[in-house]
Amino acid sequence: MKSNKLGGVLLGAALAFGGAAQAATLRVSCGSVGQELEMCKDNAQAWAKKSGHEVQVVATPADASERLALYQQVLSSRSDKIDVFQVDVVWPGMLASHLLDLSRYSKGTEQAHFPGILNNVKVRGQLVAMPWFTDAGLLYYRSDLLQKHGLKPPATWDELAAAAKKVQDAERAAGNDKLWGYVWQGRAYEGLTCNAVEWIASHGGGTVVDASGKVSVNNPQAIAAVERAAGWIGSISPTAVLNYGEEDARGVFQAGNAVFMRNWPYAWSLSQAEGSAVKGKVGLTLLPKGGADGRHVATLGGQLLSVSRYSKNADAAADLVMYMTSKAVQKERALKGSFNPTIAELYKDEEILKANPFMGELGDAFTNAVGRPAAVTGPKYNQVSNQFWNAVHEVLSGKAKAAEALKRFDATANRLSRGGKWQ
Ligand code: GLC
Repeated sequence: MKSNKLGGVLLGAALAFGGAAQAATLRVSCGSVGQELEMCKDNAQAWAKKSGHEVQVVATPADASERLALYQQVLSSRSDKIDVFQVDVVWPGMLASHLLDLSRYSKGTEQAHFPGILNNVKVRGQLVAMPWFTDAGLLYYRSDLLQKHGLKPPATWDELAAAAKKVQDAERAAGNDKLWGYVWQGRAYEGLTCNAVEWIASHGGGTVVDASGKVSVNNPQAIAAVERAAGWIGSISPTAVLNYGEEDARGVFQAGNAVFMRNWPYAWSLSQAEGSAVKGKVGLTLLPKGGADGRHVATLGGQLLSVSRYSKNADAAADLVMYMTSKAVQKERALKGSFNPTIAELYKDEEILKANPFMGELGDAFTNAVGRPAAVTGPKYNQVSNQFWNAVHEVLSGKAKAAEALKRFDATANRLSRGGKWQ
């Protein structure tokens, strides 16, 4: 990193403050999906300038599951190498023992954030993270192509598949041979768990493990939902989707090569940026329902910021977290990066709603987003999710039928949970 040069300048700035507090060098680890890393650096540097401390932003893999593996390694060795972590909303139950209680720094300001997210960041009474942005799975569509082919945005998965096929076939026949109907996240990682929860819950098949801890996914609706998704492979979705993360799907969609995409809100600002082949041609709506009796479901995602218990600069690190999660910075991130704020009041902000009309129009997706079974499975969440995404991936790649794969998953998950007692 270019820390030496920068360090010199910033250290100078800190000393100029009169030397009251020692200038610290903080290491912040951020995600790297879309603009995450770049914007994290900007926010952190703005704080450094203001506070007189130095910040180095550490890059991590874009794949959520790889990032978790890295964090677990760093934290379990009690390393002080990273002071501030970007923590996924499904991780506090696994990482809480390594994270500092931030309540003495937040002084109640966390109350301005959505209560649903606060539930996730409070573990055994401790505020182990501050909410940073919230995510919900959304359906992106090419408004120009739907209009050209006389179609409306789909309300059910059947309608989505039919529209995708119709546009794909017609456009290919007209020479657009790279066009695919639907791109999403099918790699064997946490993103596939998010997609599969949407398919299954929208068919009335539950959320894998229910609120009481019972493994609930071996049911006919869930089996039908996963079989349906497997049927898309090679037909409306490229086989390569089996290895797609968020950015792979966005790459295809933003180049103009997909009719529909499932993704998080961050893809909105990028799809509308200068140089995007689909600027001005994108609509956003709720993900489809399973059928007439199904419902629209978005998986709840999102990211938090935490301070490591092993940080040698906890006060400065907590100050950075409070700054990065503040109203002003959340607003800036919503405007520049379409990151959904976690502070309810910002959803009334005209500038934010103008830049991101979906934040108002699709409010339901965010307020009713369906959580993954992270709180109930606690420290075992990643193990159970890993088993689940592998089972789904086997079905998508044609190695097993959904009925067999979900039955096997059910048995494994029951062993993991010792009959429903996860923690
Ligand atoms: C996004 C979401 C996160 C989810 C991940 C899966 O980063 O915010 O909650 O686990 O995607 O890839």
